[in-house]
Amino acid sequence: MRQSLLYAVSLLANLVAAVPSPEQEVSRIDYKLPLNPELPRLVLYYQTTHDSSGRPISLLPLVTELGIALTHLIVCSFHIQEKGVIHLNDFPPHQPMFYTLWKETAILKKSGVKILGMVGGAAAGSYRNSTLGGDDSTFEYYYGQLRDAIQEYELDGLDIDVEQPMSQAKINRLIRRLKYDFGSNFIISLAPVASALHGGSNLSGFNYLRLEADLRHKISFYNAQLYNGFGTLRNMSVIDRFYKFGWDLQKIVLGQTTSRKNAFGIVPFDELNSTLVAMRDRYGQNSIGGIMGWEYFNSEPFGTERPWRWAQIMTAILRPWARVKLSITHQKAVGLVETWMESSRARFAEIERLRVLERIKNCQEARRRNNAEGMVIYCRPVKPTTLVSAVVPDVWNMTLNVDYMAMVNA
Ligand SMILES: *[C@@H]1O[C@H](CO)[C@@H](O)[C@H](O)[C@H]1NC(C)=O
Ligand SMILES: *[C@@H]1O[C@H](CO)[C@@H](O)[C@H](O)[C@H]1NC(C)=O
Ligand SMILES: *[C@@H]1O[C@H](CO)[C@@H](O)[C@H](O)[C@H]1NC(C)=O
Ligand SMILES: *[C@@H]1O[C@H](CO)[C@@H](O)[C@H](O)[C@H]1NC(C)=O
Ligand SMILES: *[C@@H]1O[C@H](CO)[C@@H](O)[C@H](O)[C@H]1NC(C)=O
Repeated sequence: MRQSLLYAVSLLANLVAAVPSPEQEVSRIDYKLPLNPELPRLVLYYQTTHDSSGRPISLLPLVTELGIALTHLIVCSFHIQEKGVIHLNDFPPHQPMFYTLWKETAILKKSGVKILGMVGGAAAGSYRNSTLGGDDSTFEYYYGQLRDAIQEYELDGLDIDVEQPMSQAKINRLIRRLKYDFGSNFIISLAPVASALHGGSNLSGFNYLRLEADLRHKISFYNAQLYNGFGTLRNMSVIDRFYKFGWDLQKIVLGQTTSRKNAFGIVPFDELNSTLVAMRDRYGQNSIGGIMGWEYFNSEPFGTERPWRWAQIMTAILRPWARVKLSITHQKAVGLVETWMESSRARFAEIERLRVLERIKNCQEARRRNNAEGMVIYCRPVKPTTLVSAVVPDVWNMTLNVDYMAMVNA
């Protein structure tokens, strides 16, 4: 990406007279020229990995349904935990419940979708002084867990979502280190609230304009959160502000909530389309960095029934002419069914295990409280080894929520 951008800029230098300096020029690109075939991006976060009964939520419709040009999928949320190991949401990422996830992301990858991980987010902890924001030896320890996860799951990049104060030096250290370890093709994105890009309120502490000035060539794009009151795409105001603050608009992916259940400030599809049409008129056909959606599983208009419909509508708005391809053999489909069963069983077992542990905890608390009043409560003991096998039936025949066999096309 960096290469094509630089190439285009030098091309521009030949075409446009009286160019002041390359530095100034990067932030004032002529968006009429086709600069990057990846644009406009369509980015989706995938955080809810299972439904409430423990069934994995398949990602494959994003490449098997027609008319979807997904460019990046962000698996989230990874958390770095003080005195602990890296987790994907509430569990270590190698837990069997995630087997379907990792198998499917590998297929998406073969279809040309870039797979990123996201670390951080609303649950604070990953960037503390005692974790990734710590002194060099603390950083080294926790960064090692992150690096190993990136390697193990062959992630194409990392989305850094800092929603707690972090210093300029510490964010620079993390980004430099990732680029050093994974090379120039590794994708780095950040996920600021939109207002942090134009001098308004921020959740990260550090200054994003300064970060871009320092590490411009190491950062691929910014997933600007344009919801929850930090900005909106109902009109062009925020885009004009980004431009005024010197941003290369192509580096900003315009973040939308996919459902009013995920965040407030959803923009109706026709208004979103009008804003993007206006953006093309004002800044050029290629000015749009892309659209990001938070998050996949319940995207409107159809919600959990057909969450991929959102991505189809976005593709129609962004670029009706393109889509990714996929080939699924019979053998691959059978393997996917088996993995789905295993992931679903593991998730179910975890839900049950946590429920039993919770029951024991509640009983013990009740016993402590009541002992003081002279009442005796008996808590039935449960052996840890029986926890899992006791609750999951031997034959796991949960009904699939995705028809892998119907996807066979090769
Ligand atoms: C974390 O470190 C920063 C300096 O990097 C310091 O200003 C801040 O007080 C520290 N916070 C805690 C909780 O130690
Ligand atoms: C980010 O927000 C904090 C808290 O509101 C503020 O103190 C800080 O100056 C802001 N930083 C930037 C770079 O805007
Ligand atoms: C853009 O929309 C926001 C939110 O609806 C509103 O506050 C603002 O005044 C609008 N700006 C323009 C220029 O219409
Ligand atoms: C977006 O708006 C333009 C201009 O009104 C229209 O031609 C186009 O069909 C709309 N696209 C979608 C996907 O609604
Ligand atoms: C498996 O399927 C049978 C028949 O549909 C049903 O009676 C049984 O409860 C199912 N078992 C599980 C674990 O879902």
